[in-house]
Amino acid sequence: MQKAEISVTINKKISDIDPRIYGSFIEHLGRAVYEGIYQPGNPNSDGDGFRKDVIELVKKLNVPIIRYPGGNFVSGYNWEDGVGPKDKRPVKLDLAWFTTETNEVGMQEFQKWLDKVGSEMMMAVNLGTRGPDNARNLVEYANFPGGTYWSDLRISHGKKEPYGIKTWCLGNEMDGPWQMGAKTPEEYGRIAVEAAKLMKWTDPDIELVACGSSNSRMPTYGKWETTVLSHVYDYVDFISMHEYYGNQDNDTPTFLSETETMDKFIKAVVAFCDTVKAEKHSDKTINISFDEWNVWYHSNEHDAKLEKWGKAPHRLEDVYNFEDALLVGGLLITLLKHSDRVKMACLAQLVNVIAPIMTNDDKAWAQTIYYPYMHASNYGRGTALEAGVECGTYDSKKHKGVPYIDSVAVLSENGEDLTVFVLNKNLEEDITADLRIEGLNVKGTEHIVMAGFNLKAVNSAENPDAVKPTSGKLPDGAVLLPKASWNVLRYKVCK
Ligand code: AHR
Repeated sequence: MQKAEISVTINKKISDIDPRIYGSFIEHLGRAVYEGIYQPGNPNSDGDGFRKDVIELVKKLNVPIIRYPGGNFVSGYNWEDGVGPKDKRPVKLDLAWFTTETNEVGMQEFQKWLDKVGSEMMMAVNLGTRGPDNARNLVEYANFPGGTYWSDLRISHGKKEPYGIKTWCLGNEMDGPWQMGAKTPEEYGRIAVEAAKLMKWTDPDIELVACGSSNSRMPTYGKWETTVLSHVYDYVDFISMHEYYGNQDNDTPTFLSETETMDKFIKAVVAFCDTVKAEKHSDKTINISFDEWNVWYHSNEHDAKLEKWGKAPHRLEDVYNFEDALLVGGLLITLLKHSDRVKMACLAQLVNVIAPIMTNDDKAWAQTIYYPYMHASNYGRGTALEAGVECGTYDSKKHKGVPYIDSVAVLSENGEDLTVFVLNKNLEEDITADLRIEGLNVKGTEHIVMAGFNLKAVNSAENPDAVKPTSGKLPDGAVLLPKASWNVLRYKVCK
């Protein structure tokens, strides 16, 4: 059996964690909205048409913020189509996903659903086919108290109090040729700064996210970030990062080493932000909104064969296995290790579409990736502390010297609980880890673990609990980390 050491020291603080690092994403795509969160007439739905079983599963995730309405969808969306009386809303083609959008759900309904799940909206504006004028109108509609055309329109739609949406995305993946209204970095930088100005002049309390590259393989990656930031720096608060990971080659050690890919990507984007900061002699720091991340590759072949113009077709319905849950746990640890700069992040997405929650007409269930996300979101609030790890390493096809163990610790907001998240990537051997907690007097309470499953095991409607965590007593001192395992080590802090 391998041995390792994990040291957590109270004064090795990474950062206070912005709870929005546990955000998620709902796009008008496939069965995320229709049949996912909204299915009027279904026996599991409430009087507003929302699936109660989905609401219960989302509530357990404790999701602080949810990005809406896209994604690629937003780049052709007219937000006005989704407000006001439902029988007057137009049915339109969605050119992002080649489907038919009925507009039965828009921001009014989505806000109602958010109130039920206890989350807030991260709203994206269309900077693909539209521009600054529509963006500022939407801010006025959503956030202005009243007495103007757009705010009074909101009131006439039954919403007297403003939505008070704080976080706004300036478009989506505008560097991607697949995007409606894709742009060069100069074109996007210009339109984004003008939209940002008007939006902040309308409501100075909002926070804005500029689009970064769609992923780190884009030909303009790097140049995109620095050019866009040179335009928008003074008006925005965040730059976005998006990345999806897959095990297309069925090489699990390499797949699990994607934590290193994410780590490298974050460090590079932080460097781009700080380069522009230095060039501008600015005191302001731009932080990161990693507002699309997940495993995504299982559904690609299926989706390539899909017919056009369906309503809520099955799209991007990845069925996640156990090794996907391990990687999602590792990616959450990586985000937390960078919580000094990654202030927001969205697991993409939330229901049916590359999602931790799946539905059919009878039930909703948790996919494997639901569990590490739930653990991090519930136990990972407070202050992130470094966890120094000494352990064996391996070489994957993408990275050399990958540590078998990834770890980070979180001291709860009230200082009463310490949680250490640990991923063991070693597929062959258990590891005994000596846990050294310095500067805190702690007592081990609970060891939650996901381990012992076939790497390809999945949950399904027929067998929704095939892959789920178990909980046992946590000893003080050495802890057994089973091979291929996600571990949540919970301690009580004694006074
Ligand atoms: O999340 C699915 C899609 O992935 C989003 O619409 C887009 O932004 C990204 O390419």
